[in-house]
Amino acid sequence: MLRGDGIGPELIDSAMCILNEINDNSSVKFSLVPVEAGDNALTRFHKALPDFTLSTIRKSDACLKGPVGESAAEVILVIRQLFDLYANIRPLKAYPNTNSLRNNIDLVVVRENTEDLYLGWEFWSDEETVISLRRTSKKAIERITKYGFKLARLRNRHRKVSLVHKANVLRKSDGLFRRISSEIASAYVDIQFEEMYVDACAMNLIRNPEDFDVILTSNLFGDIISDEAAQVVGGLGMGPSANIGNNFGVFEPVHGAAFDIQGKNVSNPSSILLSARLMLQWLGAERNDRQAVLEGDRIENAILRMLFENRKTKDQGGTLTTKEFTTSVMSYLYAN
Ligand code: IPM
Ligand code: MG
Repeated sequence: MLRGDGIGPELIDSAMCILNEINDNSSVKFSLVPVEAGDNALTRFHKALPDFTLSTIRKSDACLKGPVGESAAEVILVIRQLFDLYANIRPLKAYPNTNSLRNNIDLVVVRENTEDLYLGWEFWSDEETVISLRRTSKKAIERITKYGFKLARLRNRHRKVSLVHKANVLRKSDGLFRRISSEIASAYVDIQFEEMYVDACAMNLIRNPEDFDVILTSNLFGDIISDEAAQVVGGLGMGPSANIGNNFGVFEPVHGAAFDIQGKNVSNPSSILLSARLMLQWLGAERNDRQAVLEGDRIENAILRMLFENRKTKDQGGTLTTKEFTTSVMSYLYAN
């Protein structure tokens, strides 16, 4: 349980309550270990990602992570590389009685999570010019594309994958992305495959967001598009995410540390609670443990019940505090 900065610690506290409740009421048992990383850790231990934090994560089955402040890149980008968490999965859907633009939105951004401009390969070529390098490899495209198509099958919504790129300008890198993805698409005859330039996607997300199912894209485009999609479904407070690799997963809200509302007990814990649900889904799938998946579903159902009853935090037009919202979700987990 990586506490992070800003509203991170209060979100992790909320998730602790919910996971402890599941621990106490079901056969799914956790041992939750809180660790520090981020700006706070940098001040206290002179390292944004302290060694003992990293070694605790290494010994864990999964990591639930709160948002980190200014040093976010030194924490999450390093973790993504170290554990080769190649798939960043961001499901965004319209929950009832939220500020969602429309009702019938249910999409997932499948973002390549290990390369692109995110490798930070930037160089001064002279005193007034910087050159940034973008990496795009066949291996990375293949695994993220397969992940996207399998997910489209599993979701069974529109059974559609929209590849989002800018191959009209980035002819080689995104040219490779569309070529490899198109080849893989032909093996999934039951799934529709479409291509969209990233600028058009930004527009279509507002014009007809309900038409999307799986949005498959590269790292930077996925970062930008997922914030937009979160706002379309009512704001970042509702956006969970999963960073998945071959044998580890890190689960975190899509949003950042939100220092402006830190300590005010007004943040919406839904993003981290839904991330905890993704964690249980992933652990359950990894271990063939159906019960873990079902306990995770309880989290979403409890949040749904809150929203149906119009019991919401400030960001969704409600009056509940973070703690009140958490306590109610907790009481709904095993209620009839
Ligand atoms: C995200 C965040 C990170 C990213 C930052 C904090 C480095 O915005 O997970 O979307 O750009 O990937
Ligand atoms: Mg982002």
